[in-house]
Amino acid sequence: MSGAAERSDRSAAPRGAAAGAARVLVTRALPEAWLAPLREAGLTLDLIDQDEAPERDELLARARGATAVWVMLGDGVDAELLDAAGPELRVVATFSVGYDHIDLPACRERGVLVANTPEALTEATADLAMALLLALARRLSEGEALLRSGGWQGWGPQQLMGFDLVGARVLVVGPGRIGSAFARRVHAFEAEVHYHGRRPNPALEEAIGARFEPDLDAALVRSDVLSLHAPLTPQTRHLLDARRLRSLPRGALVVNTARGPLIDEAALVDALRDGHLGGAALDVYEREPEVHPGLVPLSNVVLLPHLGSATRGTRARMAALVTDAIRAVLRGERPANLVG
Ligand code: GLV
Repeated sequence: MSGAAERSDRSAAPRGAAAGAARVLVTRALPEAWLAPLREAGLTLDLIDQDEAPERDELLARARGATAVWVMLGDGVDAELLDAAGPELRVVATFSVGYDHIDLPACRERGVLVANTPEALTEATADLAMALLLALARRLSEGEALLRSGGWQGWGPQQLMGFDLVGARVLVVGPGRIGSAFARRVHAFEAEVHYHGRRPNPALEEAIGARFEPDLDAALVRSDVLSLHAPLTPQTRHLLDARRLRSLPRGALVVNTARGPLIDEAALVDALRDGHLGGAALDVYEREPEVHPGLVPLSNVVLLPHLGSATRGTRARMAALVTDAIRAVLRGERPANLVG
C-alpha cells in the first residue's frame, strides 16, 4: 500500500493534535522573535539553521514525523515530501503569498492543510514594482554604474535620457491585490492605467479610472509599459512568449515582480538584445536563483534578487500569519489564510 493510500482516511478538515507532541520543521534560519509564538504554544521546533535552501535530501529527512512545516519559496512541497513527512503532518505554511511551489492536490489528498501570507506583503511588493519601473524608466542602474566607474565627465544635455512616465500607457496584468496596489501608484505618477485579468475589477476602475482590457493580445500592441502581477499556473507559464514580447511596441518596458516563468526568459533576452524592447526590470527569474546569462551583461535591464516582500515590517507580518496558521491548525481550527 502506498503512503498516500495508507493515509487516505484523513479528511481535508483540520483535526486537533496534542500541541505538546507536535513538531514544527522550519526550513531556514529565522529571528527568534518570529518563532516565539510557536515556542509559546509549547511546540517543538526543528530548525534548519541556514539562510540558503536545504538540499532536497536534507529537507526530506528532516520532514520525517513533522506535524507542521514552515516552508519558503524554493522548498518544493510535493507528494515525495509529504510522504517523507508521514501521517503526522497536518499543515504546510509557506512564508510567501505565492504557492506555485506547493502541490495542492497532493496536500488535499493527504488531508494536509496549506496556508500562505496574503495581504501582508501587498504594499511592499507594489512599492518594489514601482521602484523597478522608475529605475528602468530613468536609467538609474546605468547612471550609477557610470558614476561608480569613474567615467562620468559631468552633466550632458543628452546624457542617459530616459522614458516619460506621465501619459504613458501602462498595462497591469493580474489586477489582484498587488497589481491593484501597483496600479494606484502608477496612477499617482499620472500614467494611463489599463489592466488585463480574468474579469473586470470595478473597484480599480472606480478608484483610478483604470481601463479593463479583456484581450491581452490587443492590449499589448498599445502598451508602453507592461507589469506582471499574475500568479504562476499552468495557464500563465510563458504568458509572455516570443510572439507576445514582439507584439509590444518597439521600446516598450517590461517589469516582473510576480514569477519568472510568466516570461520566456530566452525570448526576453533576444528582444532586449536586438533593441525591440526598451528595457526590463526583474525581481524574479525563470530558474531562481539562476539568472539567464544573457541578461547580466545588458545595460537596459535592472535585476534584483527577489526582494518584493523584503521589508522588516512586511516580513514580521508574514511570520505572524505563518505562526498563527500553524497554531490554529494544531488547535483544530481553520485559519483564515488557508489556500485552495
Ligand atoms: C513572493 O514571491 C511571494 O510569493 O511571497
